[in-house]
Amino acid sequence: MISTYEPASKKIRHYSANACLLPICSLYGAAVTTVEGVGSTKTRVHPVQERLAKCHGSQCGFCTPGMVMSIYTLLRNHPEPTSEQMIAALAGNLCRCTGYRPILDACKTFCKESICCQRKTNEKCCLDQEDDLFDKEEKVSTRLFSTDEFQPLDPTQELIFPPELMRMAENQPKRTLSFHGERMTWISPVSLDELLDLKASYPKAPLLVGNTSVGPEMKFRGVFHPIVIAPARIPDLNVVKCLDDGLTLGAACSLSVVKDILTNAVVEFPEEKTKVFSAVLQQLRTLAGEQIRNMASLGGNIVSRKSTSDLNPILAASNCMLNLGEYVSAFRQAPRRENALPVTNAGMRVLFEEGTDTIKDLSIFYGGAVSTTVCAKQTCRTLIGRHWNKQMLDEACRLVLKEIALPGSDSGEKVDYKKTLIVSFFYRFFLEVSQSLKTMDPCHYPGIPMEYRSVLQDFKTKMPQSIQIYQAKPSQSPQDPVGRPVMHQSGIKHATGEAVYVDDLPSVDGELFLAVVTSSRAHAKIVSIDTSEALKGPGVFDIITAHDVPATNEFYYSDDPEIIFARNKVICVGQIVCAVVADSDDHAKQAAAKVKIEYEVLEPVILTIAEAIQHNSFFEPKRKLEQGNVDRAFETVDNIIEGEIHIGGQEHFYIETQSVLVVPKGEDKEMDVYVSTQHPAIIQEMVAASLGVPANRIMCHVKRVGGAFGGKLLKAGLLASVAAVAANKTSRAVRLILSRGDDMLITGGRHPFIGKYKVGFMKDGRIRAVDAKYYINGGCTPDESVLVAEVSLLKMDNAYKIPNLRCRAYACKTNLPSNTAFRGFGFPQSALVTETWITGVADKVGLSPEKIREINMYKENEQTHFKQKLDPQNLIRCWNECMEKSAYYSRKTAVNEFNKQNYWKKKGIAIVPMKFPFGLGTRYLSQAAALVHIYTDGSVLLTHGGIEMGQGIHTKMIQVASRELNIPMSCIHFCETSTTTVPNACASVGSAGTDVNGMAVKDACQTLMKRLQPIINKNPKGTWNDWIKEAFEQSVSLSATGYFRGYNENMDWEKGEGQPFTYFLYGAACSEVEINCLTGDHKNIRTDIVMDIGCSINPAVDIGQIEGAFVQGIGLYTMEELKYSPEGVLYTRGPDQYKIPAVCDIPEQFSVSLLSSSQNPYAIYASKGIGEAGLFLGCSVFFALRDAVTRVRNERGLKKTFALNSPLTAEQIRASCTDDFTEMVIGRWRGGSV
Ligand SMILES: Cc1cc2nc3c(=O)[nH]c(=O)nc-3n(C[C@H](O)[C@H](O)[C@H](O)COP(=O)(O)OP(=O)(O)OC[C@H]3O[C@@H](n4cnc5c(N)ncnc54)[C@H](O)[C@@H]3O)c2cc1C
Ligand code: FES
Repeated sequence: MISTYEPASKKIRHYSANACLLPICSLYGAAVTTVEGVGSTKTRVHPVQERLAKCHGSQCGFCTPGMVMSIYTLLRNHPEPTSEQMIAALAGNLCRCTGYRPILDACKTFCKESICCQRKTNEKCCLDQEDDLFDKEEKVSTRLFSTDEFQPLDPTQELIFPPELMRMAENQPKRTLSFHGERMTWISPVSLDELLDLKASYPKAPLLVGNTSVGPEMKFRGVFHPIVIAPARIPDLNVVKCLDDGLTLGAACSLSVVKDILTNAVVEFPEEKTKVFSAVLQQLRTLAGEQIRNMASLGGNIVSRKSTSDLNPILAASNCMLNLGEYVSAFRQAPRRENALPVTNAGMRVLFEEGTDTIKDLSIFYGGAVSTTVCAKQTCRTLIGRHWNKQMLDEACRLVLKEIALPGSDSGEKVDYKKTLIVSFFYRFFLEVSQSLKTMDPCHYPGIPMEYRSVLQDFKTKMPQSIQIYQAKPSQSPQDPVGRPVMHQSGIKHATGEAVYVDDLPSVDGELFLAVVTSSRAHAKIVSIDTSEALKGPGVFDIITAHDVPATNEFYYSDDPEIIFARNKVICVGQIVCAVVADSDDHAKQAAAKVKIEYEVLEPVILTIAEAIQHNSFFEPKRKLEQGNVDRAFETVDNIIEGEIHIGGQEHFYIETQSVLVVPKGEDKEMDVYVSTQHPAIIQEMVAASLGVPANRIMCHVKRVGGAFGGKLLKAGLLASVAAVAANKTSRAVRLILSRGDDMLITGGRHPFIGKYKVGFMKDGRIRAVDAKYYINGGCTPDESVLVAEVSLLKMDNAYKIPNLRCRAYACKTNLPSNTAFRGFGFPQSALVTETWITGVADKVGLSPEKIREINMYKENEQTHFKQKLDPQNLIRCWNECMEKSAYYSRKTAVNEFNKQNYWKKKGIAIVPMKFPFGLGTRYLSQAAALVHIYTDGSVLLTHGGIEMGQGIHTKMIQVASRELNIPMSCIHFCETSTTTVPNACASVGSAGTDVNGMAVKDACQTLMKRLQPIINKNPKGTWNDWIKEAFEQSVSLSATGYFRGYNENMDWEKGEGQPFTYFLYGAACSEVEINCLTGDHKNIRTDIVMDIGCSINPAVDIGQIEGAFVQGIGLYTMEELKYSPEGVLYTRGPDQYKIPAVCDIPEQFSVSLLSSSQNPYAIYASKGIGEAGLFLGCSVFFALRDAVTRVRNERGLKKTFALNSPLTAEQIRASCTDDFTEMVIGRWRGGSV
């Protein structure tokens, strides 16, 4: 939070800002409050920090300080904010773990309005429901935290603005400031004259106000400015003048200041004078996030955002005095509703001849379309004198499309979508103005049909309402924490910024920083590497290549190797070729940019699945599963459909990027490796192998990981090896923290997927035969691609019995960065294919998708397609409960009703079941160990092989130890996961962490209790400390290991049968959405999830996993889109281009219920592993969108069968809602009414 003091008004302004973009020199005279300053465990934890943690708003904790600062800043300005202000304050913060619901729950406790759900189900709101639910046989609870525990927010206790800064501002005359750094000079003048002089002296120096445009260019695009001029302190540039005929705003005013001023002006000025203000405000509401708006200046937006400025089109269009009979509007469509640059935006204005609908003047401006804001001048001129009617509209669309010529684009942007938006926006303006004309003169102007009106309202983000229901344990001993919604054991430390991640580790003496140099070619021979310029760079220590690897550079886990440094050739863009070590991160990066690599391109370059098929390029083995007689079944069915669906990949986007610090210990080749990984043992193994030392010299330590989702396994091992080789060569500690761009470029993600299917079924909807082929894009090295392909086959049946089935899976070898594990591991893709053909069958037989789902769902004790037994009772319970809780049928009727009454907006609803098999396929992968020490003061130190990456495993393990040892959780501490305490631990993957480590912790605790039992028996009234003291005096060992051998799982791929899974999780989700047919935008209205996760060990953690995974699933299926150049260069390399769900994307009503009375004999305390399953349920939103699109198409008499791919973006939705505008764009329009 930045605080500044303005002596003239004596006002203090507090605002949040993005630290990474904020130039330190701009802070002269300002006070900065960081999360550590807000509160700490050593002094006082601030209510914001406390509530975020206690409401379970922190999982991995990496985003938490940012959340704290956004909320804290808002509260400093508005101690009792509205929920609207709260939502706006968080629009610029991203969280990849929680799905935002618990964060918003914490926020609600500060808001003025009631925190209740305000959902009147059965005339009751959430706050009354619990008592009701308790009356039933199954006791359930809806409380995950207790507000009684919260400290009150007392604004008088906040830090004050430093008086010395206040004095400084008041007493010091303003003078030009200059700051000189190693490479840059910052000059901040205080008058316009000075500014002009400076500009004359340094014509190339940019003016820098918020740095939100210049900053990213310097940071990410290699632009360098030795001198910058910062004019923000010049009074003329901050002027705000209210005059009778309008407002004058200085160019250095921040967009937030502009927003505040316009908001006030709209209230104060007469309505006809504020139309432009309202239109600008409309854009400002969703332009960037609050932090950016606080820094970004009005002048900067106008000057720097040539094409994507949201303000330019509307400011340009309204360049005039306003009169009666004049209408102004602004429009935008972005890949995400908030905090995303627009795909296209527009500003439009029309002035009519007095008292008529004859156009006197018209301005139409578009942004985002070409490289600058463009004006449809010719169109506007031609339309002057025309009446505002349908003929004018037809002609306007035709003219504007002709005039705004969009060049073809190679950056993956779809020109047709932009063109469609260009005409759709004009149509929307047409509707708005037509309606306003009617309001002005209802006798003359008919206005627009009732069913068109809803499209005049844009979707707005509202504070979501949510409810979580889980089975309560009223009869359990109050001391036993198992089954209770215990807070994440690091929650408070996350919120105070005290939690230590790799990059927080203090620097080690002589430490070096490493920057990687990556290939710019997808497939090429390395002709030469010229490091001479790089080596001359300041602070550069050395350059590391494959030749410096003492032992293994290529790891053969299968036929093709995983590679640390490219040796003679590169096989993807982003492959690490060499690395620079220097005395600072900046120096290393600057030098890395100077390494010159010469390539000779090799053929073929295979990027897509289609190209891999064409070149027969696959990783072996290919897999197949078959049951029944597929060919014969196809001969007997009533109907057959065939189709395919493309599912895009997904970037993990863990908020903590890959990070490692390697510290050589100076003797016996020992090294400490501090690394952000899910699998310390493989890091140890790979580092040892690359250095050629025994594993016992490499000590791997993981305190916590800022999100992983499958992305920190092998890839983390390769990066740790890079750093270890550098540390070995230089004998110095080496730190490697990947930038977001490099992380996205290098490390791969979820596999892009193509599913091809042929499905045979009867008229009544019974599916008899399926023949499917799955292709996954594995990228350039095998990683776990074959395993992902196998899992996609094993889980493809989802919830359905398919009597005759043949499916094959192929892992394609391409020249993309190697793809890897990602939450769900093949299931989210293959089950989406299944649900797609389910809806295809429904379309064909004329039944609803839910009917087809019910008809084909597993019903009683049955066998899967690989002959594993399953009892689907809880699947059916989840389905029925979800139907009931979501009030599916009555809501479907309401959706139908809405759709009848609305033409350009449509709703859709879908319910999807899920069977998620749990297992790792083989016993040794699920073994686990734990180590428990009891110290003589009674305190317990616990460790195990699991990794804390936000999923709350350590919290759950402490709960387990607390129950087993019968002592409070506060007596038990977890320090770190390390290869020194638990050797050979399996990776924390496949939802298995709690299951297997829980068993090991229980085993260790039970061993200790067995040893203590004679002492307890002798002194049953003694305390824990008495017994421990006595045990020590009797020389009883107070340390024990615990072990779990793993699940007896197997799979015989030759026979196509086995028991690869130990048990099944079940669930169902119902989602409702609303789409805007003119833009393709959508809003997630409501989701109800019912999940069977056995007996939850910690409902808060488990519900957090379900919600977080669900929202990540929404990202996968509806918005996250990776874009590559035709040469295989990833374009989407940061939050700017790649959009993960934000607060605006979560359902406005969101309920999660855990199925009660579910037992699981196979896992610890009858629980079930829950990390991954919820992700797939995100596809209920995909199918709700599909439902909405289907309704549009049905109404318009369009072709019944149509294909939708994932992610189902606004662009695809718009293209599928075919209308006159889309037809105009693709040239099929033959004129007529639009
Ligand atoms: C994460 C993020 C999201 C964003 N989302 C959006 C969005 O949705 N819509 C949108 O429209 N924009 C968006 N932006 C862009 C943002 O609005 C602009 O970067 C910002 O307005 C630029 O202002 P600044 O003061 O930070 O410019 P700076 O970076 O300080 O300067 C930018 C340029 O403007 C020039 N300049 C600045 N002030 C003046 C002046 N007074 N006279 C002449 N030249 C001047 C400078 O010389 C420089 O070339 C986003 C930016 C970020 C980082
Ligand atoms: S808790 Fe938000 S990113 Fe992990």
